[in-house]
Amino acid sequence: MPSLMLLSLTLAVLLGFTFVLSAAELQRFEHAAKADGSLRLLVVGDWGRRGAYNQTEVALQMGIIGEKLDIDFIISTGDNFYDAGLTGVDDPAFYESFIEIYTAPSLQKQWYNVLGNHDYRGNVEAQMSPVLREIDSRWLCLRSFIVNTEMADFFFVDTTPFVDKYFNEPKDHEYDWSGITPRKRYLSNLLKDLDLALKESAAKWKIVIGHHTIKSAGIHGVTLELNLQLLPILQANKVDLYINGHDHCLEHISSSDSPLQFLTSGGGSKAWRGGVSWWNPKEMKFYYDGQGFMSVQITQTEVFVVFYDVSGNVLHQWSRTKQLSFAVQ
Ligand SMILES: *[C@@H]1O[C@H](CO)[C@@H](O)[C@H](O)[C@H]1NC(C)=O
Repeated sequence: MPSLMLLSLTLAVLLGFTFVLSAAELQRFEHAAKADGSLRLLVVGDWGRRGAYNQTEVALQMGIIGEKLDIDFIISTGDNFYDAGLTGVDDPAFYESFIEIYTAPSLQKQWYNVLGNHDYRGNVEAQMSPVLREIDSRWLCLRSFIVNTEMADFFFVDTTPFVDKYFNEPKDHEYDWSGITPRKRYLSNLLKDLDLALKESAAKWKIVIGHHTIKSAGIHGVTLELNLQLLPILQANKVDLYINGHDHCLEHISSSDSPLQFLTSGGGSKAWRGGVSWWNPKEMKFYYDGQGFMSVQITQTEVFVVFYDVSGNVLHQWSRTKQLSFAVQ
């Protein structure tokens, strides 16, 4: 009798455990690449201001460059709606800051969006709701998810819940933490799932996207929590690029101890904040305090990054090549 009880108890624990594990798994999406497997995309961040602060001008240039590159999709690094996310699925900001701004034909592609800290000041469930996707099918915003393409895997990470100060000193801001409690378990599950997904990825290029900086000389600077908790996982799994927003600038920092590149594309609207800190010139490749966006072009052997300003001028370019590989590693 006691052994039967023990058995059923063990079973219940096991089942419960399995359920928790699978419930936490990161959602995956497949995005078809071009016929030759290549991929071209734009990255913009920190943008939703109803067209103000040059948001409209940046959108216009994104449309032109997007057309020229024949882009496959667009990534948003978060802070999609200022000042406090969306109030609900019927918030006019969804029209005024997104639908009516990014109107160019080339931008009528899938948008993959992460949440920024300003989005967490609004109704997070609303921003992730399928109702928005019904209003505009381009919209996809989730906390953390993966987009698989032929040559590159994109790992979108919900970085806001990592940052202690939003919990410890929220000032007069109210954050919507409803979906991420208990916080400790949420964060440890997320890191575990990300690590596992990165390990399982056989893609030639691994790209991680989050709202917050890991390395930045901008006004927000480095995010200590991510340096401690996220960075080691990226390095251990040979991630190629970490792409973020949060600092309202365009920036490229390389690593002296790994191939990982840190790219900030947070120039979607309000910029020119000043307050740039010194950074080791061996790692600092590029810093621009103003508005703009970034493109990423990917083939089997090369990743090519370009930063553009509000007039579409090329400000900085960088590329890395890898040998063609035939053997499965
Ligand atoms: C818009 O962009 C132009 C060109 O960079 C700049 O001179 C101007 O200050 C920008 N406006 C704002 C509000 O940032």
